[in-house]
Amino acid sequence: MSKAAVKQKTHDSGAWSPESWRAKPIRQQPDYEDKEGLARVERGLTALPPLVTPEEIRRLRGELSHAVTGEAFLLQGGDCAESFAEFSEANLSSFFRVLIQMTIALMYGAGSPVIKVGRIAGQFSKPRSDATEKKNGEELPSYRGDMVNAMEFEADARRADPERLNHVYYQSAATMNFLRALARSGYAALDKVAKWNMDFVADSPQGKHFAGVVERINDCLDFITATGLKLDAMEELAEARFYSSHEALLLGYESGLTRQDKETGEYYVGSAHMLWIGDRTRHPDEAHVEFLRGVVNPVGCKVGPSMTSEDLIRLCDALNPENLPGRLTFISRMGYQKVEEFLPKLVRLLKAEGRNVVWSCDPMHGNTIKSPSGYKTRKFTDILTEVRKFFAIHQAEGTHGSGVHFEMTGQDVTECLGGAQAISELDLSNRYHTHCDPRLNASQSLELAFLIAEQLKKAK
Ligand code: PEP
Ligand code: CO
Repeated sequence: MSKAAVKQKTHDSGAWSPESWRAKPIRQQPDYEDKEGLARVERGLTALPPLVTPEEIRRLRGELSHAVTGEAFLLQGGDCAESFAEFSEANLSSFFRVLIQMTIALMYGAGSPVIKVGRIAGQFSKPRSDATEKKNGEELPSYRGDMVNAMEFEADARRADPERLNHVYYQSAATMNFLRALARSGYAALDKVAKWNMDFVADSPQGKHFAGVVERINDCLDFITATGLKLDAMEELAEARFYSSHEALLLGYESGLTRQDKETGEYYVGSAHMLWIGDRTRHPDEAHVEFLRGVVNPVGCKVGPSMTSEDLIRLCDALNPENLPGRLTFISRMGYQKVEEFLPKLVRLLKAEGRNVVWSCDPMHGNTIKSPSGYKTRKFTDILTEVRKFFAIHQAEGTHGSGVHFEMTGQDVTECLGGAQAISELDLSNRYHTHCDPRLNASQSLELAFLIAEQLKKAK
């Protein structure tokens, strides 16, 4: 699409610096008592090595540019909120394993490469609807993620502690180190993952349903092997490229880890490959958009039912004035009952304006409900319905729905209802471990990937 088709006049871009966001209105920041301590920790971050490199960031943007045209598919997923307590080899391995299993299914369905982006190695802070929480007559600051305070309902635990930013940095570094090692060490080799998916099909209650898909994937692998090519000798098949992402919410952390690329002079955030802006902080004139407009990382922006056409265009102008494909991803999170009402006109608008964006679907955040027993939960069927409607809308509009965004874990938790395991209201209390929103467990995640793969395949 030609640049000339894009009218760039809705965003007044004044001078940008890694600190220019501080002059703008800002939402969802903790109230630190220890302001000096916060400033000291933020200064300390500026001296630490970044967790990602500009080369990797550019490579991700290149890969995402193919998702704009439907020639690649974005799979983004991980915890709602990472935690300090659940940091372990077992949890990282099982997360990575299920993400790679989903990749194979989606690759088959989409008929294109799958870009793997974890909600991990930095996803530790949460926007909250209420600044405080009340229990038995006591009122305390809300839990805002391990990056800010602790979950226990005690005054001391809920105090915002700047030292937690350092803890997040070091845990994220260790997480990236381990995931990079897994990706490189053959753990994600195609033939191994194909075998895991066969096990899933054999063990899962509805596994037979997917047997045909897995068989066809295996036939393709057999064919490649028959040509004399060695699967484990092909870098693309033996190794997985894996990228990190999180919501850029605490801007003191993000700007503390912002660096200038010595070769190009461009600024990049060194905390993750991709950053996104939440539905509560995406105002075009406010701090989060101001900060992210100046860095070169691929940026995501959540799009909920309150998004206006005007703001959508202003966000494109602010975040992607040069209309670079792969720079901007809009993550629709409407809810299964609203997506048909609110999404089509936005999709149509960007198509008419010639804006290069990736459209991805987060079927989690618009479908959160409270179970009678008081658990925050989500129904597998609602999640699936929103994804199905999202792809149907893009098909009808002649645009590309090229991604999904899930809250998921490799653990066998009981946080979302339904799926082939038929998790019921009564099961929720068994293994409900999330630090914020309910996640799909390993089996639900893979089942969803298979169902989406079937739909994508049919649409081709
Ligand atoms: C999230 O992704 O965890 C989140 C809070 O999403 P949203 O901004 O879409 O509500
Ligand atoms: Co969430």
